[in-house]
Amino acid sequence: MKYLALAALLIATPALAETQTADPFPVISPDGSLYQAFGGHEGLVRITDDLMVNLLADPRTHDFFVAAKRDQIKTGLIQIFCHVMGGGCTYTGKNMTEAHSQLGIREEDFTALVESLQKAMDKNHVPFRAQNRLLAAMAPHHREIVTGAGKG
Ligand code: HEM
Repeated sequence: MKYLALAALLIATPALAETQTADPFPVISPDGSLYQAFGGHEGLVRITDDLMVNLLADPRTHDFFVAAKRDQIKTGLIQIFCHVMGGGCTYTGKNMTEAHSQLGIREEDFTALVESLQKAMDKNHVPFRAQNRLLAAMAPHHREIVTGAGKG
């Protein structure tokens, strides 16, 4: 019986490891300190509101977002940011490929979004190092999002 349990554990372990590494947005701040540096849920609501205002005001990104479901995008961003920063949220939206593959997003569009996000984080007094930790966590998704001409 003991061996049966051990065998079951050995079989189950790789599957468990697989589900854990399959998280497309790994948690980078398990103690939630980064989430706190962003002001928790209230902070993320303000930052994503400001981000959307910036994206609409910027001629480089306006057309992407003017006709999009902006509340849905904001909700998804809050869930993703909260999750990676250790705030304990779950992302329930589309994966990054599904959400962006039809949009023809180019390298410069991605850069423009990052600039709008930096502005929003600055406005909401997120420390520079905390900003960079979030941006670094988003960087690997670049390859799923940028599908347009001139991609890097
Ligand atoms: C790391 C960077 C990015 C993240 C984390 C992100 C996240 C998201 C999320 C969560 C959604 C909503 C998915 C859903 O509906 O379930 C979304 C949709 C969308 N994103 Fe992004 N995004 C990123 C970069 C970009 C860039 C660079 C652009 C364009 C400049 C962009 C344009 C859009 C548009 C237009 C939609 C709506 C698509 C539709 O309504 O079908 N995103 N994004």
